[in-house]
Amino acid sequence: SAVSMPFIEPVPDPDLERLALERVVPALLDRGFCLLDGLLGEAAGDAVLEQVKELHRAGALQDGRLAGSVPGVRRRSVRGDKIAWVSGSERGCEAVGFLLSLIDKLVSVCARRLDGKVIRERSKVKIELYAQAMVACYPGNGAGYVKHVDNPNSDGRCITCIYYLNKNWNAKEHGGILRIFPEGKSYVADIKPLFDRLLFFWSDRRNPHEVQQPSYATRYAITVWYFDSEERAEAKRRFRDLTAGQQGGSSSS
Ligand code: OGA
Ligand code: OGA
Ligand code: MN
Repeated sequence: SAVSMPFIEPVPDPDLERLALERVVPALLDRGFCLLDGLLGEAAGDAVLEQVKELHRAGALQDGRLAGSVPGVRRRSVRGDKIAWVSGSERGCEAVGFLLSLIDKLVSVCARRLDGKVIRERSKVKIELYAQAMVACYPGNGAGYVKHVDNPNSDGRCITCIYYLNKNWNAKEHGGILRIFPEGKSYVADIKPLFDRLLFFWSDRRNPHEVQQPSYATRYAITVWYFDSEERAEAKRRFRDLTAGQQGGSSSS
């Protein structure tokens, strides 16, 4: 669920402004996605990782839900992740909050440059674990996430950001690579979920993607979506009309 984020206004740090304008905006316009490595540095990255591990240890990560259940399809064959939604302001999530404020600043600089798009809010943040030990439970069927588009039907999500937290990740051994299939292109982009790496991509049909291979080790990621406020408002109107219809009321109120 979305929370309003009045995060647009503060004057950004000059380094972040440069990063946004020189790296993120051109990559988004040119390729539709952007990778930044070493975003926080070792110490702050470690602090975020420790908080995520603590959520995991405390049992806060729950099975990811499917939008609709499909009879005969095991949830785990579609997505094998465990997740928690946080805002970053919770106790014990201060480092996550710091990360989010940094990403907010980057995105707010980008938004001013991108086709007059107004991005005024973001989702709560999904902390994600691709569970281990799937091999034992479902031989030959590790925890992945099948090919999908985050926002196929104009729900308002505009940019997907994923921050990865995995040290010493060996993709050959652990799998867990994110594969993006940019629309209309002949190439794919394989992205390893490496520690302190931030990925941006357009959330719509331009970027179908999958967590390509079974993840046979614990794989942590933090995902946040930024909304196009007009598309979001329109999606909310559609949703209100739909639920009014389902409750037998008229949709004219
Ligand atoms: C998602 C997703 C990819 C990843 O949660 O929608 O595609 O690399 N995650 O974690
Ligand atoms: C890319 C890229 C390599 C990696 O997709 O542009 O640099 O380590 N991938 O994920
Ligand atoms: Mn996705």
